[in-house]
Amino acid sequence: MSVQTPVVTGWRCAVCRERVAISEIFSWRCPNSSDTDRHHVLEIENLIAPLRTNGDANPFVGFQRYLAWDAFAATLGFDFESRTKIIRDLDDAVAKVAGTGFLTTPFLRNDALSDALGFDQQGGVWVKDETHNVAGSQKARHLFTQLLHLVAVEQAGRAPWRDRSERPQLAIASCGNAAIASSTLARAVNWPIQVFVPEHTDEATIKILNSLDANIVRCARVVSDPPGDPCVFRFREAIVSGAIPFGVQGPENAWCLDGGRTIGWEMAVVAEDLPGALFSRMFVQAGGGAFVTCATNGFFAGATKPKIHAVQTEGCAPLARAFEIAQKTGGARNAGARWSQCMWPWETTPVSLADGILDDETYDWVGACNAMADSGGCPVVASEGQVRESYDLAHRVTNVDVSPTGAAGLAGLLAMRQEIADDERVIVILSGVRRQ
Ligand SMILES: Cc1ncc(COP(=O)(O)O)c(C=O)c1O
Ligand SMILES: [Zn+2]
Repeated sequence: MSVQTPVVTGWRCAVCRERVAISEIFSWRCPNSSDTDRHHVLEIENLIAPLRTNGDANPFVGFQRYLAWDAFAATLGFDFESRTKIIRDLDDAVAKVAGTGFLTTPFLRNDALSDALGFDQQGGVWVKDETHNVAGSQKARHLFTQLLHLVAVEQAGRAPWRDRSERPQLAIASCGNAAIASSTLARAVNWPIQVFVPEHTDEATIKILNSLDANIVRCARVVSDPPGDPCVFRFREAIVSGAIPFGVQGPENAWCLDGGRTIGWEMAVVAEDLPGALFSRMFVQAGGGAFVTCATNGFFAGATKPKIHAVQTEGCAPLARAFEIAQKTGGARNAGARWSQCMWPWETTPVSLADGILDDETYDWVGACNAMADSGGCPVVASEGQVRESYDLAHRVTNVDVSPTGAAGLAGLLAMRQEIADDERVIVILSGVRRQ
């Protein structure tokens, strides 16, 4: 097979097993997903072996042929070079707004952190630093493939609107980083966007969103809503009215599960070049769950399969609950058909210093459970004390200006440290920058 041949063959629903062709435009959701039943999520079907980068510093170019987007754009008639050009042009536009385009982010053993946590020379903590990624977190990776999809459809003349002035608004429900990332990408192509944010969103976030010309909709919890996040309910209403889902929740737009894998691919190629023992564990903070799903799917395309630990806080841990129920009711692998039994909104109002992972529901719980079940991993629920300690520790011993949410994976490592041997190599992702 040529190095220019895309590897993704299609989509398949993790719940009802319905297939969707990769050539389908706007294939955001399973065809059986509806306004009243969002318990469906499309998964990418592909076979990546062996995983190789072409060495380009932009991961979307370096791993281009593994992207679902690459296979999709090929079906629109774009040849390999034209597809690369679409990525580069869009990246240039993003860089003008964000101050940086997409670049492979650092992934190194952090000696100070390894020492502080008592690992020996064979083992240690490898840190993936996402704080300098576009818009200051990993979120833009997920969204870039959605934007590539939209732009490619327009360029191929397949969009149902006549010109740019008729573009439907983009829409996202988010409490922070994803809203900033989506508004940054939307601004890069002057696409109007509505962001549905919690009522008490901090002023620093609001200021950034305003500077990006996002249409901010603050969403209060209202008694007439069913349990769950009011931002998600208002977002879904916007989708019913014709807006395009542009968020980081797989059941709302599966294309976020494509680009998010770049972070895992980047780590996997480093892991393959590393002499000696392989990585034994990866800690990934989980809110909506798209991040842990993608980081794992990307990583597992390589030769190493660390145990995956999705990290939540004691203030909001619906994924840990789902994993446990799934294990007891037939297994945590492919548990999508047991959605209602396993996953429902956290009953109490979620609170934590790591406020970016307080999603009422882990929307991508099926992918997150698969990641843990496939690797012999398990969820970790960190105490609020460990969340604070991880944030303090990260600032004390690393030079990464990480946010509490971005350091929450480290809280999971703190929670499990006693069970981990000193010569194990573990991964922590510092996923988002602190904002003041
Ligand atoms: C910095 C950061 N890390 C991790 C996450 C968790 O990602 P996900 O919601 O996909 O689980 C978020 C989500 O908001 C975030 O902002
Ligand atoms: Zn389905």
